[in-house]
Amino acid sequence: TGPLVVAVDGPAGSGKSSVSKAVARRLGFAYLDTGAAYRAFAWHAQHSGVELEDQASVVAALPTFDLAEATDPDHFTVRVGEHDVTAAIREPAVTGVVSLVARVPEVRAALTGIFRRLAAGTDKPGIVIEGRDITTVVAPDAPVRVLLTASEEVRMGRRSAELTGHSPEAVGEQLKARDRADSRVVDFMTAADGVTTVDSTELDFDETVDAVIAVIQSRT
Ligand code: C5P
Repeated sequence: TGPLVVAVDGPAGSGKSSVSKAVARRLGFAYLDTGAAYRAFAWHAQHSGVELEDQASVVAALPTFDLAEATDPDHFTVRVGEHDVTAAIREPAVTGVVSLVARVPEVRAALTGIFRRLAAGTDKPGIVIEGRDITTVVAPDAPVRVLLTASEEVRMGRRSAELTGHSPEAVGEQLKARDRADSRVVDFMTAADGVTTVDSTELDFDETVDAVIAVIQSRT
């Protein structure tokens, strides 16, 4: 028997990364941020001279994608080959193009394989995996599946509070554009069958963590 898988999906700014990380920490579980892997691949494609609009060109960068992503919620790092990209993948230069690589089916298949191997390989009793298609594609059989939502207004507010130095308008526009692009590829706005919705619009951070832990307890 492998680790207990907790699958968490949600849109940008729903708080799913920080909430998933806190849930993993509280339960002594591993934590896997799949968006970070898509971002790392976008960074790699950018640095491989790939034409990002050209799907075949993007696919050609897959064989040289050497990803090392930590699954420790207390020491989260992402490396591509020799490069520590933990900070670089949060820059607008990467955020603005990640949807272009995430829409490519071969990229999704390759990263899904990586996620399943990372999840199976943890020595922790469980793993919280968060992203856009975890409840539906990466781990549809997970015993715990959660869709974390929040109103668009609250999501934009949280994201611009995180990104000091960028105008709230610009952050909001980028977030909406990214959700629109991503929605064409995977549906993360509606809960699939058997997926529990946690709406954090009216909850603070700790209450949201408690709500996700309550779902886990009710399912295990
Ligand atoms: O979660 P985060 O905002 O870091 O995700 C970055 C991007 O990675 C998303 O905008 C989306 O294009 C892609 N992604 C995805 N499937 C996932 C996780 C992220 O397509 N499971």
